[in-house]
Amino acid sequence: MSGLAFRTVAGAEVPPFIPALARLRIAVFRDWPYLYEGNQASEERYLRIYAESARAAVVLAFDGSEVVGASTCLPLSDETGNVQAPFRAAGIAIERVFYFGESILLRPCRGTGAGVRFFAEREAHARRVSECDIAAFCAVQRPPDHPARPGDAVPLDAFWRKRGFTPYPALECEMHWKEVDATEETAHRLAFWLKSLTGAPLP
Ligand SMILES: CC(C)(COP(=O)(O)OP(=O)(O)OC[C@H]1O[C@@H](n2cnc3c(N)ncnc32)[C@H](O)[C@@H]1OP(=O)(O)O)[C@@H](O)C(=O)NCCC(=O)NCCS
Repeated sequence: MSGLAFRTVAGAEVPPFIPALARLRIAVFRDWPYLYEGNQASEERYLRIYAESARAAVVLAFDGSEVVGASTCLPLSDETGNVQAPFRAAGIAIERVFYFGESILLRPCRGTGAGVRFFAEREAHARRVSECDIAAFCAVQRPPDHPARPGDAVPLDAFWRKRGFTPYPALECEMHWKEVDATEETAHRLAFWLKSLTGAPLP
């Protein structure tokens, strides 16, 4: 896989891509470590936040005309209360933080630099549209002995550290979703990673 093309869209440019983004999220997050059973209608509803937030952006990766990957970002002030909550509790002003949402790429397209590009584009966007001095994302927490962990699972921690992020395990938020083969939604803990966008020390 080579030669993906990238495009960053915002505002009114986002809605035409929402059905494809929803399909991608459902396909990619079904796998370890998210084990997420999404459905098209609720995915499309959720994704509207990226069209409605004036300073949000979606970085799209194309193989020809097909969207094979995407990555999202928006000011934390435009995110939902559950994502803001740990920052408020830690005394970190919401206005300082640009939140990086999902990075999703179909498996055959991985390992050729799209993940690196997603971070670079989102950081450039955050600097362009905001005065935020912190970038933050969160990742699901799974116990080491989780029965669904594949034997060959490679954690993304080293990839994230190399992008300049530091784990903040004390900053955790809760999200609810139905796991594959489950009958109802359960609560999941996601821990944050932070990066200074100015070089100044993190809180
Ligand atoms: C997160 C995700 C988008 C990253 O995509 P990716 O294709 O693996 O990312 P990259 O190819 O940019 O980076 C992976 C590594 O390959 C390296 N790489 C870059 N260009 C490369 C190339 N041409 N050939 C081989 N490797 C390359 C990168 O440098 C990086 O290594 P590094 O961290 O040592 O620098 C992808 O793994 C994914 O969709 N995962 C499932 C969803 C998920 O868990 N998302 C995160 C939480 S939302």
